[in-house]
Amino acid sequence: MPLVTRVTDLIGRTPLFELAATSTGTRLLLKLEQFNPTGAAKIRMAREMVLDAERRGLLRSGGHIIESTSGNTGLGLAVVAAERGYRFTAVVDHHACKDKLRAMRAMGAELVFVADDGDDNLATSAREDLAEAMAAARPDAYFTEQHNNDANAVGYYSVAEELLEDVERVDILLSSVGTGGSLFGTATRLRELGYPAKVIGVEPVGSIAFGGEGGPYWQSGTGTPPGATIGTAVDYSLLDEGLKVTDVDAFATARAVAAELGLMIGGSAGGSVHAALSRLDEFPAGSTIVTLVCDGGEKYLDTVFDDEWMADRDLLDPTAEAEVRTMLHQYTPAARRPVALAEAR
Ligand SMILES: Cc1ncc(COP(=O)(O)O)c(C=O)c1O
Repeated sequence: MPLVTRVTDLIGRTPLFELAATSTGTRLLLKLEQFNPTGAAKIRMAREMVLDAERRGLLRSGGHIIESTSGNTGLGLAVVAAERGYRFTAVVDHHACKDKLRAMRAMGAELVFVADDGDDNLATSAREDLAEAMAAARPDAYFTEQHNNDANAVGYYSVAEELLEDVERVDILLSSVGTGGSLFGTATRLRELGYPAKVIGVEPVGSIAFGGEGGPYWQSGTGTPPGATIGTAVDYSLLDEGLKVTDVDAFATARAVAAELGLMIGGSAGGSVHAALSRLDEFPAGSTIVTLVCDGGEKYLDTVFDDEWMADRDLLDPTAEAEVRTMLHQYTPAARRPVALAEAR
């Protein structure tokens, strides 16, 4: 790798990890986006939204970026703002993971909370209204509005390009949907490059993008809570199937993957991996399925990986974790199977 001079030079070229394989040659590959700076995929789109605003004259030297964020978008924007000399205000709620908020502050972001301390409900809609109002009141401010910003999806075109450098084709792209940017941006670019993949979106039970009853959920950074509007980055025309995963299954999967493989994935990736593993045998033989791991598990040590936090919310489920471990054993790729001692000698 050449010498780099900016943190954003480190974005991308994230590893592809073979998590599971069936006897029919179907395999589940994880694009480990936690290897980006900030430990998340979102920095790809944060950079693209700022560059796009500069190109369109919406953001001028020394200007002010405002965004509503559950954490990872804010982390990405904090990096880009620091590098390019902008002021950045993140409109957040107490549902966001504390470490993400602390890291944003460390990188010079200003935090504005929509709810009082102690209220840890997801407040996407209130956050967006406040961010919009704040931006409207300041002449030098630009609301990046990730849910309705075309640059969000464009920020993930590089994911598709990197995938095609690593594998011959992607048959199924199965990943979580929050704003929709990462799944639909990657799918759009795969299609443009002549490799259309089947697109399967995953959201938490309680999220409303794929219909069904709305309600609370704990998976962070993903889904659309009741009351929030679904933005233009969710491109239903590209969606082949929309699935829902419970918090219990999503978190049990993140915990089982950590314990079995030493790989820490976040709760939303846990949801996608659960959906993929549960259906692995149903996909056509020889399929290559790719899931984006939007962030790593290290951000959730106080929540998903904390037994007390999990038990207090009725999320701890040893049976669900055991079921995931069974699937991981059943689908262990040949290259990872333990070599018998006699064979090794
Ligand atoms: C933790 C987490 N889950 C899921 C997603 C998917 O979000 P989106 O649909 O907004 O690209 C993201 C964003 O990258 C995220 O940070």
